[in-house]
Amino acid sequence: MNQLRLAILSNAGGSGKTTLATHLTYLLAKSKHSVVTFDLDPQGSVTLFCGLERPQSNHTISAVLTEKGFDGTWSLAPLWKEKVKGAFACQGDIGLERTISELVMAERGAYLLDDRIQDYPLPHDVLIFDCPATLGPLPTIAISAATHILIPVQVEPKSTGGASKLLEWLYEKFRTLRLNPRPKILGFIPNQYDKSIAIHRSLLEQLVPMLSQLNIPYFDPIRFSSEFKNASAVGLPLHLYRPKHPACDDFNPIVKVLKAEIAKEKEL
Ligand SMILES: Nc1ncnc2c1ncn2[C@@H]1O[C@H](COP(=O)(O)OP(=O)(O)O)[C@@H](O)[C@H]1O
Ligand SMILES: [Mg+2]
Repeated sequence: MNQLRLAILSNAGGSGKTTLATHLTYLLAKSKHSVVTFDLDPQGSVTLFCGLERPQSNHTISAVLTEKGFDGTWSLAPLWKEKVKGAFACQGDIGLERTISELVMAERGAYLLDDRIQDYPLPHDVLIFDCPATLGPLPTIAISAATHILIPVQVEPKSTGGASKLLEWLYEKFRTLRLNPRPKILGFIPNQYDKSIAIHRSLLEQLVPMLSQLNIPYFDPIRFSSEFKNASAVGLPLHLYRPKHPACDDFNPIVKVLKAEIAKEKEL
């Protein structure tokens, strides 16, 4: 029985990685899966988006990834406890900056997260890795530990160029890290999409054929709504903040694909 390990990547800030990570954590937990989101961003946005207290430095992912070693005691903070069971976060903080420099020096730096998870397995069905926007050591450890990848993109003029650069980087990493099997790219997710804006429509029309040509799947967009910001400001997913908001349904196709992949991993 394997667990699904999902890396959420993109080479642009503000594309919706943390939004996607926290919402998928909530939605999968709501459908009775146990989920841990790992905040691999030194900015520690998961803490904010989930309404958690700032963690002590020995209770973060940096403590797991430290060169000094890890004793196997994972610090997992329960999320939205009154509403859902089985959602947790392994919080990040600025200590990850130090982790980056250690990772570069360490012999198995690129595989450190995978090594930790192998050595000290977590019983959860799903692990989600919320990555920072820079394609450096932290996304590298995420993809070497991942079974699956999702890529949110904001529809803006540089998104098609950005998407092909990201794919180049990914394939290069798959090769140099000799990942076997390679994590499966589940698809791109256009985010903050407003169909009433002509440039959004035309950019989506450019992105879709480019991805189809490369055989990369893509999802229908998640619409723009300022309620996402309001919800994260109070530490909630949109589904708890405004349960009837139409954007809640935009996640359904992604959750459906993930549930099918979780079932496949469990069979292995
Ligand atoms: N579909 C959306 N519509 C409007 N705002 C969004 C949407 N998705 C995310 N946001 C907001 O955009 C900002 C950046 O999103 P975030 O998830 O932090 O991106 P990243 O983690 O990629 O930097 C946040 O303030 C978030 O609340
Ligand atoms: Mg983020």
